Amino acid sequence: MASPIGLLSGRLALVTGGGSGIGRAVCHVLAREGARVVVADLNSIAAEETKKHLDDIGGRFEHLALPVDVSVGRSVQSLIVDIRGKFNAAPSIVVNSAGITRDNFLLKMDENSWNAVMNVNLKGTFLVTQAAAAAMLDDKVPKSSIINIASIIGKTGNVGQCNYAASKAGVEAFTRTVSKELAKYNIRCNAVLPGFIETPMVHSVPDKVKEKFKALIPFGRMGLPEEVAEVVLFLASDRSSYVTGNCIEVSGGLAT
Ligand code: CAA
Ligand code: NAI
Repeated sequence: MASPIGLLSGRLALVTGGGSGIGRAVCHVLAREGARVVVADLNSIAAEETKKHLDDIGGRFEHLALPVDVSVGRSVQSLIVDIRGKFNAAPSIVVNSAGITRDNFLLKMDENSWNAVMNVNLKGTFLVTQAAAAAMLDDKVPKSSIINIASIIGKTGNVGQCNYAASKAGVEAFTRTVSKELAKYNIRCNAVLPGFIETPMVHSVPDKVKEKFKALIPFGRMGLPEEVAEVVLFLASDRSSYVTGNCIEVSGGLAT
């Protein structure tokens, strides 16, 4: 059951990539804390499934599932228009979790795989943040929090992921810059850097590579999406009211 008075009571949250993995866990935790949640995903069936799950948790508030392709400006603009039409307000919490991998070694990496990852992970984060921030200002939202899901790989690099690592390092730099620009509007912007988390994204990683990674993680196991979501909750809530421009690692100690 959602708590009657949670940390986010009365807040409106937008979660991209909310149809799966980390995004879905974030939706759950934000709704549990009393937020109304807009679940936005390229996969509209998955987004509806998350919304149904949120409705089943209970609570006073209505949630919404909407389709979006975060890599396309028009699609992101329609998403924000639809949210404001439905709730009469801009979201005051935005979580950019939509992301993809197209792994290959540098010497085999094709241009489409490079572009696809940059367009969703980095450009998508830019498009959603820009559109949401403009709406927050228009609607005079008194305080807002934007949380970008980057990756520990953006710091460490990873064999087979030059596109993905570059996109996630870009998200970190983007986060720090946006935090400086938007602080005067009381909009905070932070990033979370997960390590290896049990979600569909890691299913395609060959078992031998997974074993190599587990050996490098001090906790000796992969993380759970819920363990990332609780840190997102901290950044979304007033518990982190003086925190902006930070990139918090949630990686079981993996840092090499
Ligand atoms: N770290 C260390 N070694 C790696 C590696 C990695 N990330 N990826 C591949 N290798 C090694 C393999 O173990 C293998 O070693 P051996 O020759 O000793 O057996 C060698 O590279 C060749 O690998 P493949 O036979 O798999 O080569 P391939 O051409 O068939 O596939 C690949 C290449 C697509 C890069 C594939 O190896 C792969 O998918 N690797 C995993 C990449 C990865 O780690 N992705 C993380 C996804 S999860 C994520 O991205 C979320 C996040 O933020 C953490
Ligand atoms: P996932 O694959 O389970 O979920 C990603 C979601 O994003 C899916 O529902 C997918 O439909 C959606 N999506 C993909 N492209 C989209 C687009 N163009 N527009 C809108 N939605 C789109 O992956 P996971 O693991 O939940 O990843 C979430 C975020 O966390 C990603 O940004 C990922 O890079 C990041 N991350 C994941 C880690 C992991 O180990 N699972 C580790 C570090 C970061």
